[in-house]
Amino acid sequence: MTSASHIVDGFVLNWNDEFFAYQNCCPHTGVSLNWMPNQFFDSDSRLLQCGLHGALFEPDSGLCIHGPCLSQSLSTLPLLEDTNSLYLALDKLSLN
Ligand code: FES
Repeated sequence: MTSASHIVDGFVLNWNDEFFAYQNCCPHTGVSLNWMPNQFFDSDSRLLQCGLHGALFEPDSGLCIHGPCLSQSLSTLPLLEDTNSLYLALDKLSLN
């Protein structure tokens, strides 16, 4: 995803028929979460998992519930939905 002067690495997931989007950046060290291309979930496909040290995050909140960044959260990306499309709301995007 690209905004005016930034390239944002992020991902979108459909969890329980709801869409969520996060920056692909672990709050522990800032590395990408995925351990393989497009692989963000743990082996049970219930939690998002950082591939480096194994932190686990709730898919619907981005909250870390296990690991070295316990109680920190993934940074959300603002989504807009209409009937057949998803959009990244660039005007609402705040980058850390
Ligand atoms: S870098 Fe993600 S848990 Fe350490």
